[in-house]
Amino acid sequence: MMRKGYIAPSLMCVDLMNAQRDIEALEAVGSDYLHIDVMDNHFVPNITLSTDFAKAVKAITRVPLDVHLMVEDPARITIPQLSFLGPEDFISVHYEAALHPLRALSAIRQLGCRPAVAINPATPICVLEDILDDVEMVLVMTVNPGFAGQKLIPATLNKIARLRRMLDEAGHGDVLIEVDGNVSFENAVKMHAAGADVYVAGSSSVFAPGATLEENVRRFRAIIDN
Ligand code: DX5
Ligand code: ZN
Repeated sequence: MMRKGYIAPSLMCVDLMNAQRDIEALEAVGSDYLHIDVMDNHFVPNITLSTDFAKAVKAITRVPLDVHLMVEDPARITIPQLSFLGPEDFISVHYEAALHPLRALSAIRQLGCRPAVAINPATPICVLEDILDDVEMVLVMTVNPGFAGQKLIPATLNKIARLRRMLDEAGHGDVLIEVDGNVSFENAVKMHAAGADVYVAGSSSVFAPGATLEENVRRFRAIIDN
């Protein structure tokens, strides 16, 4: 049975000078989540959006946020800065960046948000074995984290399928799998077949030139609703 797919446009790809306009368009066309990348220039070699930006977005939309923390030691500063988020919002921490992943996940839970763990393309899924009780979603990076516009690492497709199997076999079929990185219309078909649930839509799909955000979201939804 095919699972319901959710679309999460990546706000690092919006036109920053028209962010509110784009967010309203993404809400009107029925985006399920708004994905916000927070980077620290240490865990990844880039800086994009901030917790302040997430707060400003939260104030103007009813779409749940999906805040992806690509920062070292997220429990120290960044998670406490997200106290304005609600029970409908996800916060994901990287397994590789949290000194104590369970402590970071429980800090998210204590904030009242939905905890998720993210893994880099090179991180094997077996490291998740002992934290599955503590997450509602696993974010599988399908490119190396840090930049929009990269090419899919093909081995991650098989990883999604293996993770789906691992979750189902461990009695955690309710844990969602999110995919992030070069989730193009074409790659989404394969990710959907592999068992992904939440699709981060960036420059390769929803923000691709040549069509409006609305047209691209509709085209995307047709793929994951199949
Ligand atoms: C980083 C971001 C990017 C990006 C995705 O975690 O979430 O992966 O915006 O969009 P693409 O890869 O399609 O540019
Ligand atoms: Zn992301």
